[in-house]
Amino acid sequence: MRKRILELLRGHGQDPVSGEEISKELGVSRTAVWKHIQTLKEEGYQIESIQKRGYILKEAPDRLFPQEINSCLETKWLGRSICYEDCVDSTNTVAKQLANSGCDNGLLVVAEEQGAGKGRLSRGWISPHAKGIWFSVVLKPPFLPQEASKCTLLAAVAVVKAVNSIKGVWAAIKWPNDILLNGRKLVGILTEMNAEFGHINYVVIGTGINTNASPEDYPDEVREIAISVADVATEEFTRVGLLADILKNLEDLYEKALTEGFAPILKEWRQYSCTLGQEVKVIAPGMTYFGTALDIDEEGLLIVKKEDGQLEKVVAGDVSIRPAAAKNGAYQ
Ligand code: BTN
Repeated sequence: MRKRILELLRGHGQDPVSGEEISKELGVSRTAVWKHIQTLKEEGYQIESIQKRGYILKEAPDRLFPQEINSCLETKWLGRSICYEDCVDSTNTVAKQLANSGCDNGLLVVAEEQGAGKGRLSRGWISPHAKGIWFSVVLKPPFLPQEASKCTLLAAVAVVKAVNSIKGVWAAIKWPNDILLNGRKLVGILTEMNAEFGHINYVVIGTGINTNASPEDYPDEVREIAISVADVATEEFTRVGLLADILKNLEDLYEKALTEGFAPILKEWRQYSCTLGQEVKVIAPGMTYFGTALDIDEEGLLIVKKEDGQLEKVVAGDVSIRPAAAKNGAYQ
């Protein structure tokens, strides 16, 4: 009901909509309309009530409420079903639970805050309340299990294109799953998979985007390496608008991958990469080596030319890569 009231108010822009009109349109009493308006105000919606004329929606709160996402979402199926929570341990965990109970392809799980956000390589992910976009989507791609990392590549391209469409933001993809800005981490992506031999049941792509966190939102060890969109953006942006853009990009890229194959996605990934052509340090279990990142292959593996000239394919799950400046002890 509140979703429909908001739609009506939005549809009228800055023209007031009377309580009577809303009650007729939605088939409820005027008292019910008044109560819903009060609840919306409590949720943070700024609704002006003008005597004898009606209500005007002045401003929506900075929350990732499903009705807010829906109001700017342009996808066909991705994010059309939304699980929204104010605070969860991890949106990936919730998404996996819902996927295990048979949710739709394209389900979106989004939270304002994560109490135990998960990063790659068993690290955590700091997710302060309403200071970022912490979300997971469930996909059921017709890829082979060994191709699941294609989902991470798709997501990285979808996110980097969306953040870079905000004026002042120029981010790049660090293989396999980071998006960096000025060498600092803006976005992390954690892809988890449930598969059987030769078949993916589902993939959960979890994405964390720092949008407006300040240094005090982070513990010391993260403060120096994190950055937020708001630190560099030179125009206003909203979290909900950015999320809707990412979902649209992801749906378009995913459909392109299914119809045209993965080559066009890899082409875009390469354009946004800050890893290719770089000297890198590969830290894999039991071995560390230096080399040059040459390319990624069809399955998203990084092709590194080692110092002895040998080519090595690097699997994302196993390694950390750092700029080779680490050779001089610049990166620890
Ligand atoms: C990384 O860079 O290590 C990956 C970080 C991924 C963080 C996101 S936030 C939303 C989703 N839920 C999680 O628990 N993790 C991912």
